[in-house]
Parts: sequence; structure tokens; C-alpha cells
Amino acid sequence: MTSLLELRNVVRTYAKGGLFGRSARAVDDVSFSVGGSGPEILAIIGESGSGKTTLARMILGTVRASGGSIRFKDMDLADIKGRGQRMDFMRQVQPIFQNPFEAFNPLKRLDRYLFMTARHFAGARDDTAAEAASDAALRKVGLSLAEVKGRFPHEMSGGQLQRVAIARALIASPLLLVADEPVSMVDASLRTAIVNLFRKLRDEMGVSIIYITHDLATAYSISDRVVIMRRGVVVEAGDARATLDNPQHPYSIELKNAVLSPDTGP
Ligand SMILES: Nc1ncnc2c1ncn2[C@@H]1O[C@H](COP(=O)(O)OP(=O)(O)O)[C@@H](O)[C@H]1O
Ligand SMILES: [Mg+2]
Repeated sequence: MTSLLELRNVVRTYAKGGLFGRSARAVDDVSFSVGGSGPEILAIIGESGSGKTTLARMILGTVRASGGSIRFKDMDLADIKGRGQRMDFMRQVQPIFQNPFEAFNPLKRLDRYLFMTARHFAGARDDTAAEAASDAALRKVGLSLAEVKGRFPHEMSGGQLQRVAIARALIASPLLLVADEPVSMVDASLRTAIVNLFRKLRDEMGVSIIYITHDLATAYSISDRVVIMRRGVVVEAGDARATLDNPQHPYSIELKNAVLSPDTGP
């Protein structure tokens, strides 16, 4: 089975400015694959500034890699051309953002987003079909169209809104979700429900998920494999349980000790 997603020696540099026009590597020679043996959750773990968001944007095709290659199924992202190919890719690889309030226009009713996605990505030809597709997706995240219809983003809690964002992504029947710190702005009490939902999507819908986080505990509980990044570089990668139970790299050990330290609690 070939991988769903394969990154090889991916680099992204940003100009640093300054007198000598030096550039900094936000992502430096990163290689990994997702979904080589069926749907899986891959956690990308690292503290702020380690290149996680840059990596997510390259996978979503919104930032170009400066070097290396990213393949989704049989397509090299650099070769995607034209609206048709672009839309096809966007349907299959859906983003989930950190702050659900930023993902939605505050002046637009939430059902509009759902209906638009149903028309663009699920072939819904009329209102009835768009409503049916939206309701089905909302039910997968524990909501229903009746609870969302006519509502504006600020009328929902952060946790509810993030579930609406996930439902919107699911309407497209994606193969891959790229979730960039999806629970860091959500109340602690709702975090577990959302990460458990990811597990359910993997098991029941066959969706692979790239789960970007700095939270070792949720990564440990839901992911199959982990990639640990520091300053743009992968320092350690492997099976989630094996890696996090027995980290080898000093940085991974440091991350784990920080979680276990009495200062920060379990
Ligand atoms: N658009 C940009 N222009 C210049 N530097 C950037 C840009 N985006 C990210 N960076 C730099 O790249 C590094 C990695 O950032 P980022 O990918 O956001 O990391 P993370 O998501 O892990 O916090 C940081 O040093 C950041 O300042
Ligand atoms: Mg980030």
C-alpha cells in the first residue's frame, strides 16, 4: 500500500532580512509519511516556533516548499495545476484551525458555510441535499442541523464551534485532516471529547489525521505515531506509545519531564 501522504526532505526557508539577506529554515529536511498501512493519526509535537504550522501549510498547499517534495496519493503538490485539480485536492485534504472563531466570518451564519461546502465538495444540487449533507456531518460530531441552523459563530461555545468546523471538513469526505493545535483554545473539559472524536473519525470513516499539538498527553492518548520537532528539525519519530514511553532524544525527554514535573501537574 502506498502512503496517503509522503514528505521527503521538505525544507521551507524565510528571508530573515538584515544586511546579508540571510534566510532561516522554519522547516529543515523533514521526511515522514502518513497512512502507509491504513488510516492513522500522526501527531506532530513541538513547542512554539518549531515549524509545525509552516509544515501544516505546506501540506495543505497554501505555502510552497522551498525544497524537497510532498506527495498526496500519486500527486506531487508542486504539480497541481488548474482549478479542477486544485478543488479535487482541497476536497480530500481539509484543514482544522487552532481558533474556530477565526475560521468563520462573525457576520455569516454557520449553516451558510456548511451548505456552501456541501455544494462545492459533496455534489449537493439543491437546498434539500445541502441540508441533508450538513445534518449528516453534524451528527458525526454530536450536533445536528437543528442546533446550528441560523446561528452565528458567537452564539456557539468554542468547543461547539470547533465541532462545527470539523463537521464542515467532513462534508467533503476527506481522506486527510490537518488539524493545527485544534484544542488549544478549547476549554479543558471539552478537549478530550474532541480528540476522542478524531479517533472515531479514523476508525469509523477511515480518515487519516495529522494532529499538531504541544500537548503530549492528548498525543499519547489518540495518536498511532508521533513526530517530535524542534527548531524545524525532526528529532525523534516512531510508534506513539513506544516513543513517548521511552523517549531517546534529550529534547523529547525534556518535553516529557516538563509534563510530569510537579510544577505543571500531570
Ligand atoms: N511567514 C513567515 N515569515 C517569516 N518567518 C516565518 C513565517 N512563518 C513562520 N516563520 C518562522 O518560522 C518558524 C516556525 O514557525 P511556525 O511554523 O509558526 O512554528 P510553530 O507552529 O511550531 O509555532 C518561526 O521562527 C517563525 O518565526
Ligand atoms: Mg503553530
